[in-house]
Amino acid sequence: MTEKIYTPDVVIVGGGVAGLTVALNLAPRKVCVITKSSLGVNTSSSWSQAGIAASIDKDDSNQQHLDDTLKTAKGLADEAVVKKIVSESANVIKDLENIGVKFDKNPDGSFNLGLEGAHSHKRIVGSKGDSSGIEIMRGLINEVEKSEHITVLENVSIDSIMHEENTIYGVIGRFTDNNIPNNHVVIQSSHIVLATGGLGGIFANTTNPRSSYGEGIALAAQVGATLSDMEFVQFHPTGLDFGLDPTPLATEAIRGAGAHLVNQNNERFMLGVHPEVELAPRDIIAQNIFQQLDQGNSVFLDCRNTIGGNFETRFPQVHSYCVRAEINPEKDLMPIIPVAHYHIGGVKTDLTGRTSVEGLWCCGEVAATGVHGANRLASNSLLEALVFGKIVAQEINKQPFKQQSDVVSSSFIKTYKEKTRSKIRARKFIWQLRSTMMRNLGIVRNQTSIFKGLTEIIRIERESRGLSAKLNDMILVSKFIIVGAMKRAESRGCHLRFDYPNEDSNFLKHIDQSQETLERDLELILSEKELPIEKSIAN
Ligand code: SIN
Repeated sequence: MTEKIYTPDVVIVGGGVAGLTVALNLAPRKVCVITKSSLGVNTSSSWSQAGIAASIDKDDSNQQHLDDTLKTAKGLADEAVVKKIVSESANVIKDLENIGVKFDKNPDGSFNLGLEGAHSHKRIVGSKGDSSGIEIMRGLINEVEKSEHITVLENVSIDSIMHEENTIYGVIGRFTDNNIPNNHVVIQSSHIVLATGGLGGIFANTTNPRSSYGEGIALAAQVGATLSDMEFVQFHPTGLDFGLDPTPLATEAIRGAGAHLVNQNNERFMLGVHPEVELAPRDIIAQNIFQQLDQGNSVFLDCRNTIGGNFETRFPQVHSYCVRAEINPEKDLMPIIPVAHYHIGGVKTDLTGRTSVEGLWCCGEVAATGVHGANRLASNSLLEALVFGKIVAQEINKQPFKQQSDVVSSSFIKTYKEKTRSKIRARKFIWQLRSTMMRNLGIVRNQTSIFKGLTEIIRIERESRGLSAKLNDMILVSKFIIVGAMKRAESRGCHLRFDYPNEDSNFLKHIDQSQETLERDLELILSEKELPIEKSIAN
């Protein structure tokens, strides 16, 4: 076996906005950033469209941003965390401008702010219309390239965290851009930051790169980290139904600019459902679109007489997808479907990004900081990633740095068995898993569908027999979502159960899980016994 060994002070798994922000703020500490593709490629950050929520307009305030976030979160957001991100929003924008990110401005120099659902004020700071993610990532990557303290390892997939008795020793994985067997990479470090993004890739319809399948959650769970609110998966109402996988996003800012939602009979079905009509919170919109589709209707985004003649300039990304699908947004309706978009739950962290495992930190979508509660306010996610990226770096800088022993690493290397990656044979099972998660654990769920999802996942696990590391992670993460969804016997925010249509104050709590609780809970579900709901919900 050949291996390359790195010994940075900190290893960061994930090269999106969260990971790069941590890396830049750790200077002069030596940092290794690991990405599965080339830097900036296949990361949700680069694909984000509208931008960053920031209460910077003179008629807006942090208090209004806080109120909107808490209201949308349905009682489950941690107010202290929300206050933290909201109060940092102006600084985050300044920091990005300082590294050369050009945000859209009005002729008088003020920010040209966008509007999204459930915001009481225009407060989305974007760049080149719907190219905000690309532009923010461009700025961060430029800085990373100038930074001597950062080493970027591209095309590396991490298999496991080296860990023993609550001590972190680093990570071990392999290069994926060649077919050399046993071509391992070992990164020794007493601090690991997981910034691996979300898990939309476990659903058949998603706006996430397919490589976002909850790998960070699986890595953390395997070393005993506590997970929280795994059942909260946010579906974006307007994925462009152009037959592509992943599904391209049509940013909510298009509705913020005035576009309507209609069915094939030209009916604006959101009229009378919610006072904000097409700008209602996204769970309500997604559920209503789901109902339309369930009734056999088709659903469209209608920009024909609402946006004006400059669609291409305002929304160049969406326009480019439309051109490929031979749709002219100024003349044609755009067919849409709700799609898995953002995972609110994840690895539980405190206000500093610390997980329950010493030396393991998380930020960005993989983390459950408590900021989004049961429903995320649009464009709060880039804000959270930028604020927590900085906080995690500051906290790690306060910690002692230990040189990891080569002896310990070599013992991990000796016992490390490369995870199987039989990509072609695993593909069929991956598709089965994605379909079953979409069908049974999608926008609406009930006891029967959740149970069906579980039995399907168990069948896939049995038949695939460890074919691929990616599939194993997808199976593990799906099980956590299933248990969370089964336990939360109510509807709240983005978790909608037809058999429990109302919010239930008994569930005004977070549902915590771990690898240890998972086995016990699955046994109970499979034996159709009652789950110990009260005990298993963290107080
Ligand atoms: C969008 O542009 O609609 C997505 C924004 C978000 O998910 O926060």
